[in-house]
Formats: sequence, C-alpha cells, structure tokens
Amino acid sequence: MILSAVPRLLRHRPRTLIPSNPFQQFQRYTHSPPKSQPKHTHTATPDPIEWLPLPRSLAYRKALMLLSIPLPPVHWPSHLDIASPLLATTSAMYKSLGIAVNAIYDGSGTDTTFSNEEVYKARIFWPDGMSKTYERFTMDSVSSEELQNDLAYVPEPFDSNRLAVAVEGDGKGLAKDTKEILVCTHGSRDCRCSDRGGALVYALREEVERRNLGARVKIREIAHVGGHKYAANAILLPTLDMMSNLTLEHAPSLISHILDPRADSQMWNHWRGRYGLTEAQQAELWSKVDPSKTVTSASARTPASLETRAERVELRFKTFEGELRTVNARIGSNLLEVGKENDLPSLEGVCGGNLECATCHLYIPSSPTPPVGEASDEELDMLGYALGYRDGESRLGCQVQVTKELGEWCAAGGVIGLPRF
Ligand code: FES
Repeated sequence: MILSAVPRLLRHRPRTLIPSNPFQQFQRYTHSPPKSQPKHTHTATPDPIEWLPLPRSLAYRKALMLLSIPLPPVHWPSHLDIASPLLATTSAMYKSLGIAVNAIYDGSGTDTTFSNEEVYKARIFWPDGMSKTYERFTMDSVSSEELQNDLAYVPEPFDSNRLAVAVEGDGKGLAKDTKEILVCTHGSRDCRCSDRGGALVYALREEVERRNLGARVKIREIAHVGGHKYAANAILLPTLDMMSNLTLEHAPSLISHILDPRADSQMWNHWRGRYGLTEAQQAELWSKVDPSKTVTSASARTPASLETRAERVELRFKTFEGELRTVNARIGSNLLEVGKENDLPSLEGVCGGNLECATCHLYIPSSPTPPVGEASDEELDMLGYALGYRDGESRLGCQVQVTKELGEWCAAGGVIGLPRF
C-alpha cells in the first residue's frame, strides 16, 4: 500500500524544489512595494471571496516553536524542511513531543540560500504567555539538556476569561507587551498565501506606521500555515491565536484586536483556534466571544452568516467493513467536518485541515462521475502519504466541499468510501 504512493511522491517532489517564479505577485507587496503601488485605502471594495466556515479548533499542540530564518520568504522553497536539515530535525523530534515547529522571517538577514552551518534564533511560546528565546539554536541544541528541561514546562491552568495573555519580554529585542502578527506569505508553497498574505503584510505595515505602533506591534512572515482555502492566515503572538479568511481590508481591525482582544471584537469572526489549548478548551474560549454581533462589511459573508443560511444534503458513506451510512451534511462544510459531526470511522483530521497529515483520507469513486474539483498539487503531495492510496479515487476529506451537486451524486448512487485507517 505504501509503495503504491511512492511514485506520486517522486512525481511531485521535484516540482516543489524548483518553483517556477512563484513570487511575481508576492514581490508586489512585501518589503519594498513599487512606487506605482496604489496607497491602500480602507474604503476599497474587497475581492469577492467565498468565506469558508472555520473549525474554531486547532489540533492540540503544547506550544509553538519558531525558528527565525535569515532568508526573506522570496527565497524559500516550497518545502523548507528539505532545504533546512535543522528545521526538519527539530520538527520531527519536537512534533512527537506535541510541539508545533515553524519558520519565520523576522526582517533580519538577507541570505539567498541556506547555509550549511545553520544557526538560527529560536523562540518557544506557551499558551499562558510564557516564552523563551534561544539566540543560537543549532543542531546540537535540538537534544540539549536545556531544551529538554524547557520542553517539560507545564503552562499555568487555562482560564477562558483571559482573552489576552501578557508577555514579560526577553530583556533583549522583545519588549514587554510586544505583540506580533505572523502572516503566511509562503508563495512557493501556495500562491494564494503570497497573494493574500503578501497584501495583508503590506497593509498591516502601513497601518502600524500610520498609527506609530512600530515599538509595540511587529509584523513578520511565517512559512506555510493554515491551508490554501483559508488564506490569508496569520498567527497572533503571544496569544497563539490562528486567524483565517483575512484580506488586506482587515489590517486596521486586526491591529486593534491584537492590542485589545475584547470579547466583542469583530475579528473573532476570523478566529480559527488557539495553539496550546485542547479542543474542549478552545470550545470554552469560543463560547466567551459573541461573533453573531460582529459582522463587518469586509466579512459580510462570514462563517457565522453562512451557518445560519446553511442548507443540507444527504451524503452516503461506506465504511471499510462495508456498512452503509447516510448522513445529513451542511452545504459549504467539508467531508472531514461531516465525518467528525457524524462520528464516521477513519476520519481523524489530525492537522485540523491544514494539508499536513492525510488522516482525512477517503475515496470518491469515479463512477458515476463525481462533481468534485480536481485535487490541488498540495493535496496530491499530501495524498502520497495516505495509507491505502487508490489512483483516481483517493482524496483528502478536508479539501472536498459539500455541495448540492455532491448530494445529487449520492442520490444517483454515488458512495464515498472510508479507508481502513
Ligand atoms: S486533516 Fe490533515 S490533511 Fe486533511
């Protein structure tokens, strides 16, 4: 089974190593926008965007570790872990300890290629606001005693009334109460991240400058996070909140939100979940904010408004053991969400729909012809890891949307297959 997936992996990996100028759009927005770039105005009409329902829950991770890579994102390959053995090793070792690891560009460094001697600044953030900085993080640091001790840190008990957390500062570069917005602009991985993320970075920096907040709010860029369909995606520090479905129009509100994330902030509509909290804790936090009061013009088609208008269709699934299950599914949700809502077996969704795990693998047979779009390159890459992969049938449930047409396909005899694992 695993062997059958290998040719697909080999077919897609070389493409990811040699991106074909994916940065054209991205360069328009980051670091040095051209003189012809129109000044951002907050009255501009946003592009029509199909807002997707947000899961309001991220897969549980104890903490988030960030390596500051001295290459501007324009030089990042699509898979940083292939270019950076230090990132790959850290990620592999710490993921098993429940720590999420990612790379950011903090504005320092102008390298254009990865050094053989990787030495990066690294930081770890816990959900209670605790953080630690390692000025020289190397391959030797990964399994050092200091890191092992630090990773054993147990955060203070979760309090859902604390919508914000305080950060003490590190006495060096990071001042007390500094806030950071990490926007995914990883264009070689996903051009939508560079288009929307790059535009958002540009608008955020302009807004920070306009409000003279340079000492308090830092705008950084982060490697692929959040997934194509929710872009632009951003992580807020120190709260560790993931925000999605963002456009450049949200820049002013997002900055106000990070400075003072009150329960009635409009930006909770874009809250995807919080690193460091369990599913139950995230649900408790979500219950403290009231997004139904907070529909903005830029988010007129927010998940909340979609949910109230949601229509439903019947979908048919068949378990690996042959049991047929008919479920009622919300149009606009995805098949992973349908699986979770209806306790269907084998659909785990460990990465929360971020295209990082393939544990939402399922089968959509080609007959009758299913009304689902083609899998993206990113989905195909990840399907290479799916156990029991079937050419022409395997899909990732988190990437397939429920539509009226999919309901009609099931009514005409179509059945979605569930794998053994
Ligand atoms: S849930 Fe991880 S790829 Fe779909």
